[in-house]
Amino acid sequence: MSANVRALAAKCCYAVVDKGRSLADELPQLQEKVAGKDKGLLQELCYGVLRYLPELEHSCRQLVTKPLKGKQRVVHFLILVGIYQIKYTRIPDHAAVSESVAATKPLKHFHLKALVNGVLRGFQRMSADGQSEVADAIKFNHPSWFINKIKQAYPSDWQQVLTANMAKPPMWLRVNQLQNSVAHYQEQLKQAKIDIELVDSNSGAIKLVTPVDVGSLPGFNHGEVSIQDGAAQQAAVLLDCQSGDRVLDCCAAPGGKTCHMLELTPGIASMTAIDVDENRLARVKENLSRLNLSAKTIAGDASDPESWWDGELFDRILLDAPCSGTGVIRRHPDIKWLRQASDIDKLVILQQQILTKVWSLLKPGGTLLYATCSILPEENCEQIQQFINKEPNAELVSLNSNSDTIGWQILPNQQSMDGFYYAKLTKRI
Ligand SMILES: C[S@@+](CC[C@H](N)C(=O)[O-])C[C@H]1O[C@@H](n2cnc3c(N)ncnc32)[C@H](O)[C@@H]1O
Repeated sequence: MSANVRALAAKCCYAVVDKGRSLADELPQLQEKVAGKDKGLLQELCYGVLRYLPELEHSCRQLVTKPLKGKQRVVHFLILVGIYQIKYTRIPDHAAVSESVAATKPLKHFHLKALVNGVLRGFQRMSADGQSEVADAIKFNHPSWFINKIKQAYPSDWQQVLTANMAKPPMWLRVNQLQNSVAHYQEQLKQAKIDIELVDSNSGAIKLVTPVDVGSLPGFNHGEVSIQDGAAQQAAVLLDCQSGDRVLDCCAAPGGKTCHMLELTPGIASMTAIDVDENRLARVKENLSRLNLSAKTIAGDASDPESWWDGELFDRILLDAPCSGTGVIRRHPDIKWLRQASDIDKLVILQQQILTKVWSLLKPGGTLLYATCSILPEENCEQIQQFINKEPNAELVSLNSNSDTIGWQILPNQQSMDGFYYAKLTKRI
């Protein structure tokens, strides 16, 4: 009777790898023990395991909690033979598993058959997941690392999030309410034959049916209107600046939210707009000038206030933090390919540093609004939860009816808006 091919392959690899024997010496004697048609299979299994050894060992390590030692090492090689068959041969998976499990008997380690079975089935599942990862990356056109994060964060909505990222973004307008009422500007749009799809009753933001050329918007050059997504327009509404306030916008460029705050509250006593990037800060100045607004603009690092702060505390602070931009992928599809998984941890640290520093510039009783255009919990609710845990004087203000959640997470295309996050904090007196 022909011997079990998997058992012989395991013995052969064990002899070569653990005992230092040469394959040319070992293999021919073992081949004599099997029938003609199995000689080729035995050769393929031995050569295959030795070719792919590090990779097979790596897979095995992920699945075997307690490494096999001493005489049981031959079973370790049997597992590698099994993994090799599943990954690199056309042998059906079920046959690869059952034949390898059966090989524990001639190897005189029948008591380890459950282990071999469990490990190979675990490997089968692992590789099936790997394949579905690749399939999802192609189906949803996003990198696998990102899909995994979104699946984790939104187990029931992840497909909608990824699909929303593929849509063409809508055009939202912000009416400069110092120059015009929202109702009157709607009338102007009508006269210009520009169709409106909806008006957000909360912020007054107008969403157009179809994006138009900026030049065709009535009064754009005179500062009557700006382009700004509906989600970004929630910032000034939520921070709710009051006349007489000293306001800091510490990551301000290109200035959309700085200008919106000034438009909504003309009595703001002073507005300081900081950005670390001088070129981007120039865009804040352009926007202020087009809209006929004024603010103190400073090129500076928000995590190092000592280098720019005049020593007077602020009543309101907007921290529109540097972030992964994962909420605005529909507007910037390059984010999918420019961002790496490793960037997220660095951004989380930077956000935390800026938040801690600017919090110290807030008056007791003052309000800070933390914002990101991210949909990743680590940059948003988890970031804020950690901050509250370590800052006893930080109090979270509820932003939506569901008071269980920390802050307000807007998902891409929710109410037609970009993906955004807001958390409002007040400083206890
Ligand atoms: C999300 S954008 C701000 C958008 C802006 N608030 C608006 O509504 O137009 C983040 C900004 O943070 C700036 N930034 C990044 N790191 C910074 C730092 N350490 N200090 C100040 N600004 C920083 C970036 O240059 C970028 O302009």
